Amino acid sequence: MKLSVIGTGYLGAVHAVCMAHLGHEVVAYDTDASKIAMLSAGSSPFYEPGFDELLGAVLATGRLRFTQSADEAVSGASVHFVCVGTPQMAGSDAADVRYVDSAFKAVVASADCDGLIVGKSTVPVGTAQRLAAELAEASSPHALEIAWNPEFLREGKAIEDTLRPDRLVFGVTSEHAEKTLRQVYGSLIDAGTPHLTSDLATSELVKVAANAFLATKISFINAMAEVCDVVDADVVLLSRALGYDDRIGSRFLNAGLGFGGGCLPKDIRAFSARAGELGASDALRFLHEVDKINVRQREKAVAAARSIVGGDFLGKSIAVLGAAFKPNSDDVRDSPALNVAAAMHLMGADVRVHDPKAIANARKRFPTLSYFDTAEDACRNADLTVLATEWDEYRSIEPASFRSVVRVPRLLDTRNVLDRQYWSDAGWQLYGLGRGGPTA
Ligand code: UDX
Repeated sequence: MKLSVIGTGYLGAVHAVCMAHLGHEVVAYDTDASKIAMLSAGSSPFYEPGFDELLGAVLATGRLRFTQSADEAVSGASVHFVCVGTPQMAGSDAADVRYVDSAFKAVVASADCDGLIVGKSTVPVGTAQRLAAELAEASSPHALEIAWNPEFLREGKAIEDTLRPDRLVFGVTSEHAEKTLRQVYGSLIDAGTPHLTSDLATSELVKVAANAFLATKISFINAMAEVCDVVDADVVLLSRALGYDDRIGSRFLNAGLGFGGGCLPKDIRAFSARAGELGASDALRFLHEVDKINVRQREKAVAAARSIVGGDFLGKSIAVLGAAFKPNSDDVRDSPALNVAAAMHLMGADVRVHDPKAIANARKRFPTLSYFDTAEDACRNADLTVLATEWDEYRSIEPASFRSVVRVPRLLDTRNVLDRQYWSDAGWQLYGLGRGGPTA
């Protein structure tokens, strides 16, 4: 099938590459000249494991092109995927849908045949219905229809999540639209991917409800971590014990610095804001608490670090391992790690940051922090090492030899991933969040 993809950010670029990989002919459009140039040349504007290889392979087949011309992307295509961002609106918790609106307008203006316009962006519920009404009023000479098909991809696992998704959700208003989406994803459906067809509103809600649930699960265990701290209990053991219960499950139950990134924080805020607009704010009031618990974990990490170094950051050298909001990503949007680093810097610490992939992005956001190319350089003569993003590289540090790098062998493991016994046997004082006092 001939597909267009509007927007080549993280979602759009991955979707375009994966659709071409599945055998479709894809033209992807973006207004950003540098992104188009990079992607056309086979290099990725962001770090995603496996993406560059797949991009190169599909470009070589000739089935994928990138363009700055909406006409070129849309013309001749029977399905148009709208993959633009919906950032948090300045001065409000609501999502800014202006890029979605202009992407729809661009498709309608450039369409030269009948087609299905499929939204993949995360939007406030009701957006698809509004666009469908606007489409009905637009005087396009072609039969255009709207559908919604939310994405659930995780950074770091984006290709796997697109090619082997947990489920596909088709929000449609006609049999034709459902049939078209079944065709697009034919090979995934044949491979047994569960797929559900719904109305437009339900399909929009699935995405925000999923993110709200995940955020709630993380904040739940972080609330338990706060209680553990008060009574000297260990949240890691608590989480493990809870996770054995199938009804609870162990995933997304790791207590620590909490969630960040371009999705969970903004999506739960936008969801609450939308509920308020719809007169249902009571239903989602708990999400405000979820957000507060999450932000509090960052404050608690800073307070723990300050207390470990004696109550004052001035004159102290703090190494921060990790800047990305999670491992296997170079994304620093709303990164808990960088937030903590910046807060300690503002309180007078000499903060030395390392990250395997996110240093360039981190430097753009917080240019006043010091950045180092190796974990060892960042940790040299540190009074305290703070593990803030749980990259494998940090998990495999050998504590006995690393001890000679730092001034004081003290480590605050804000992700609760290091083996406490192993580190303390090597002479370190190890602290966590929600784990009671240090191991010494
Ligand atoms: C998320 C959703 O998982 C995905 O389905 C959606 O499409 C986009 O938002 P992503 O932002 O890539 O994906 O990250 P995710 O893996 O969900 O992690 C989110 C944050 O939660 C990270 O900061 C991570 O460190 C944190 N987290 C995750 C925890 O603090 N504890 C956990 O147990 C799990």
